[in-house]
Order: sequence, then C-alpha cells, then structure tokens
Amino acid sequence: MTEFAITAYTRDGQVLSFPCSRDESLLAAAQRQDIILPSQCRNGSCGACTAQVRTGTVAANAPATDDRPLSKAAARNVLLCQATPRSALIIDLPYDHTFVRFEPVPERLAEITALDVVAPGTYHLRLSLVRDAYGCAAEFEAGQYMEILVPGTTQWRAYSLMNITNWEGCLEFVIARRPEGLFGRYLETASLGDRLRVKGPLGVFTLQENGLHPRWFIGGHTGIAPLLSMLRRMADWGEGHPVRVYFAVHDEQDLFLMDTLEDLRQRLPALEVKTCVSAPATRGAHQGNVIDTLDADLATAPVPPDCYVCGSPRLVQGVMDRVTAHGVPRERVYFERFSV
Ligand code: FES
Repeated sequence: MTEFAITAYTRDGQVLSFPCSRDESLLAAAQRQDIILPSQCRNGSCGACTAQVRTGTVAANAPATDDRPLSKAAARNVLLCQATPRSALIIDLPYDHTFVRFEPVPERLAEITALDVVAPGTYHLRLSLVRDAYGCAAEFEAGQYMEILVPGTTQWRAYSLMNITNWEGCLEFVIARRPEGLFGRYLETASLGDRLRVKGPLGVFTLQENGLHPRWFIGGHTGIAPLLSMLRRMADWGEGHPVRVYFAVHDEQDLFLMDTLEDLRQRLPALEVKTCVSAPATRGAHQGNVIDTLDADLATAPVPPDCYVCGSPRLVQGVMDRVTAHGVPRERVYFERFSV
C-alpha cells in the first residue's frame, strides 16, 4: 500500500513526521504513530482539527474512492479528520507543540458535587476528581474542554470547562439539555455523589499572548463557559487588557450565571459586559442581535481587538465574517464551534 510522507509544523516550529496512506485520514494516521493531534467530533462538523496544507495535494473526504483533489485555494485549509493525502504533504498546525499528545489522554473518575438548573434546560455541573495516579489536581489551560462518558453507554460528550486549573480537582461546566442529548437526559436523574468517567483536558481554544490588544469574547449560550474560564484566569493573573464580553442568547430567561460575570467585573476593572438577547419581546435593557451589536461597536473601535468566539457554527461564521470585514486579521479570531 502506498504511504505518503507527512511533515507537520507546529506554530512554534517543532516538526512532526508520520506516514499516511491514501485511504486514512491525516488525524488517524498521526494517531497510529502515537501522535495525538487536537480534535473533537471527528466527523467534520466542529473544526477543531483545522490545519493548513503548505505543499501537496489532499482529497476532501476519508473514503478511499474519493480521488478528487481539492482546488489549490480550498486545499489550503483542511480538516485533518476528513482529509486524505494524494501526495507527500507539508502541513502547518495552528497550535504549539505543547498541545500535541504522545500518550493516551488521561481518563479519570470524578464525583458530582453540585448540580443546579441555572436557566430553562441549562445545568451548572460541578465535579470533583477522585484521587488517582495523577493525584487529585485539575490541571488545564483556560478554554480547554473535557469529555464525559454518558453513564450506561459508550458515548463520550465534550464540554468546555468554565473554571480554572486548581489543586482541589474541581471541574465546572454549563450544559444545555438538548432534545436528543444523551448526557442532558442523564442529568435529569443524576444525583450528588454519582461517579462519572472524564477524559482530558483537550482542545486548543486558549488565550493567546499578542501584547496588550483589547480582547473581545463572544459566547453563544453555553459557549460562554470557556470564556468565563479565560476571564477568571485573566483576573487571577491580574492581566490588564481592555476586555469586553458579548453574551448572546435568544430569550432573557436564557441568561445565566450573571452573578459570576458581575464578580468578574469587580475583579477586572477593564471588563465591559454586553448581554445580547435576540428575541425582540424580551430585549429590555439588553442589546439585540449580537452580530449587529458587534458591527456597530467595531465601527467605532479605536484598534482592532483580538476576538474569541464560542458557539454554534452559524454564530462563529457570522462573527468571523463581520469582524474580518472590519479589519480584524483572521489569525486573531480564535474560535470553538459546538459539534452538530
Ligand atoms: S475533529 Fe475534525 S472537524 Fe471536528
């Protein structure tokens, strides 16, 4: 079987090399060599495995029968979980070497210590790691996520952490119950003390050090969770960036954890919070559609901000289109999309 040589450069210039056949995804081929690159859904919907092809040709989808090479322009950005090679490749990875793992992601046990409904169909879940070979600390970068095994199934679900690294082993999440959602359904009957299997930390949606640029955080509903984690880290580290949060929901009743945002406003004097409620009947004191609100604010922003956005693919694309139209460089828009 023909195998192509794949050379991947991390953002900090480290080199990774692995072979890949024409009928396996680049992500799977790397993993076969114990190079575990950041990913999430593995079905092409979340964008967590996006990379750039510098030289060489890829096909868009994993099946071996798909021989159509992408156009030169389209081939620049690829999803590693979907792309298969048609030649040797040089790839640029949009994260540093520290985000690549060379051993299985740690799997641990954690106990439910708090479970509260904070908005209709939205839970605030707090877990405590059980002491094991890794100790009991919860170590992760602000903005990363964990996977949780849905009890009684073999299905893992990914949720962003909303707290920060800590010695006590505390993991906090906000989780929306979706109509067909397995984990949300489990939470309806979950009890304090239940033990869950968790895997992580995972993900590369983390704060970037670009000097003292303003940071604008845009979160759609539970997409606010990793942004709260980043804000908490900024508050703990005393970071002085001008910072703004856009918390976008459909109805006013969907706004949650406002006391947490208020607490952060006390700790980060440069923090401004904008709640964007899109349903006209419930807008009240809040802004309207988050994209229109951003549009107006960017028109008068003295310098283009670094933008961090987390939410549905539609929200992320809408924000990306609007902020780049206002001159924010694409490489300074950091995002995480919900899987669909
Ligand atoms: S892991 Fe490739 S798109 Fe989600």
